[in-house]
Amino acid sequence: MLRMPRCVGILVCYHGISYNRRTRTRFVHTFFVGCRIERIAGAQHHTPMANTTLTAARAAKKDEFYTQLSDIERELVHYKEHFRGKTVLCNCDDPRVSNFFKYFTLNFEHLGLRRVIATCYKSQDVDLFSMNTSERAVYQIYEGDRDGNRMPDADEIEVRPLQGDGDFRSAECIELLKQADIVVTNPPFSLFREYVAQLIKYDKKFVIVGHQNAITYKEIFPLLKENKLWLGYGFKGGAGHFYSKYEDVATAGDHREGMIRVSGVTWFTNLDIAKKHEELILYKHYTPEEYPHYDNYDAINVNKTSDIPCDYDGVMGVPITFLYKYNPEQFELVWTTDRGGDGMIEYLKKEHTRFDAPVVNGQGMYKRILIRKKQ
Ligand SMILES: C[S@@+](CC[C@H](N)C(=O)[O-])C[C@H]1O[C@@H](n2cnc3c(N)ncnc32)[C@H](O)[C@@H]1O
Repeated sequence: MLRMPRCVGILVCYHGISYNRRTRTRFVHTFFVGCRIERIAGAQHHTPMANTTLTAARAAKKDEFYTQLSDIERELVHYKEHFRGKTVLCNCDDPRVSNFFKYFTLNFEHLGLRRVIATCYKSQDVDLFSMNTSERAVYQIYEGDRDGNRMPDADEIEVRPLQGDGDFRSAECIELLKQADIVVTNPPFSLFREYVAQLIKYDKKFVIVGHQNAITYKEIFPLLKENKLWLGYGFKGGAGHFYSKYEDVATAGDHREGMIRVSGVTWFTNLDIAKKHEELILYKHYTPEEYPHYDNYDAINVNKTSDIPCDYDGVMGVPITFLYKYNPEQFELVWTTDRGGDGMIEYLKKEHTRFDAPVVNGQGMYKRILIRKKQ
């Protein structure tokens, strides 16, 4: 039986507008002291963090950390022209606390959006760290400003109940996905493969946060190779700070209260961005001394993307961070050395005893992406 939501409070938002001269972008900053909060009758409440937190965190596979508005702004400024007239879905986001939903509702008119939908997972608590204790979930739809103040007011955003727990794979969430043009969120890392597969299946445009380790997943790498997915602009210094109650392992200089530092976090997208068309300027020349051949693969080793030689036409092994500079008109992705190449690069293998890593002079190296210059 569907339980109806009841309104439990009206809270207030404070707004501020700033203008970035360099990017010519207007940002609306809002501090949500609250919004209209509706709660499904009988929803469970979050208990204070203690041992239960650790157990819940383990159960959630460390998926509970939350993106800062500033990180979302910094990435999405590059995609502005894609949003005009579009419906955006944030489907791993409690709309009452998600900075993704906040970004799109506050910039709704500025981006010229048609609709913003956000669904949350297993929770009706207005608590960033509710640990999904409820089997029910809610969603919100915002269709723009109705009272002329160009701000999302509480009575313009209504919280609606979902029938199930808000799993992005559920039938009702897939129905919402079908309505969307662009999906933008930070999904659970533990379900990243399935999450991306669903976006591809339903032919959706997307900008999502993931870990750069996912680049060489056997489900993700072919998408990069086939130009169905690429990296966005990324987080400052290749690491992000996220709101979380997990224990932070960052060094003192990098620690921020109430946050965890996640290194290697990045953005994945299939929306066209200027960066993808920029050519990497190659200035170094090949020498066998500086670029040794692998003992086990017929390819040379390149330690840094900026050192890719301009005059080598064979296969080169580069660090996975090369993907930040990858322009498919300039380079071809051959394959990855991860998992011994998954049987896809047998023709490049030399006679050797190990293929768990590329080997130079008997020394195993970190996994590489094999690339070749386009002629
Ligand atoms: C990394 S967190 C990011 C939350 C939010 N998108 C943000 O960036 O602030 C991933 C979120 O996905 C939710 N989640 C986990 N499994 C899910 C599922 N099967 N369907 C939808 N959401 C899920 C988690 O509860 C968690 O809130």
